[in-house]
Amino acid sequence: MREDDLIAEQIVQTAQPNDLALLVGRDRKTFIVRLKPGSQLHTHYGVLAHDDLLASPWGTQVFTHMEHPFLLLQPSTDDLVRDLKRTTQIVYPKDAGYILMKMRIAPGCRVVEAGTGSGGLTLVFAQAVSPTGSVISYEVRPEMQRLARSNLEQLGLDEFVEFKLRDIAEGFDEHDADALFLDVPTPWDYLAQAHAALAGGGFFGCILPTTNQVSRLIGATRSAA
Ligand SMILES: C[S@@+](CC[C@H](N)C(=O)[O-])C[C@H]1O[C@@H](n2cnc3c(N)ncnc32)[C@H](O)[C@@H]1O
Repeated sequence: MREDDLIAEQIVQTAQPNDLALLVGRDRKTFIVRLKPGSQLHTHYGVLAHDDLLASPWGTQVFTHMEHPFLLLQPSTDDLVRDLKRTTQIVYPKDAGYILMKMRIAPGCRVVEAGTGSGGLTLVFAQAVSPTGSVISYEVRPEMQRLARSNLEQLGLDEFVEFKLRDIAEGFDEHDADALFLDVPTPWDYLAQAHAALAGGGFFGCILPTTNQVSRLIGATRSAA
């Protein structure tokens, strides 16, 4: 490896301005922050100056002004979902990972979802389809859309998401989605709309908390076929 390649690799492996950082305390309490020169993180064990974190290698210990150690890491998608501000039930990482695999969601895909809720699944979809794909996320409640938009903006993922405020009973604007996912209480009411939004051979998925609801959905998909 050439010397300038080595230097470039070192730069990538240290915390840089605008990076998201996960700080893990000895008691496992965690904080996720976007690193900004001049900013500070106030913790229960003292203050961490972002300037002291910038240019530190990932995986090293950093210390508050009271000499308490924190581990400096890059947050995983799981960390981001768990840290998300939420006022609704969200889709948890274990289910989200399975959804990505089952629905073949990968970079470049066009994914439609409803409802946006707090944006937990939107975040996972946005990361999975970036940098060339897109997520179109429908929500009927303005306050939920606001929260999800702010969550995605803070993570720098909003550029991959188009938020639409609408009751999906009125239908989707899209007709070429590679995948369509419903996290709403009665998905069987929207099968015709979902079918119209999908490209031929596109994937359809739902998440439901009870077996009664799953049976009802399967019955409705059979009747619709
Ligand atoms: C459980 S939350 C979705 C959580 C989201 N998947 C997440 O991981 O954060 C369900 C959302 O669906 C929205 N919703 C319910 N019925 C809807 C409809 N007919 N059209 C659009 N949104 C709807 C609700 O307002 C609620 O915000």
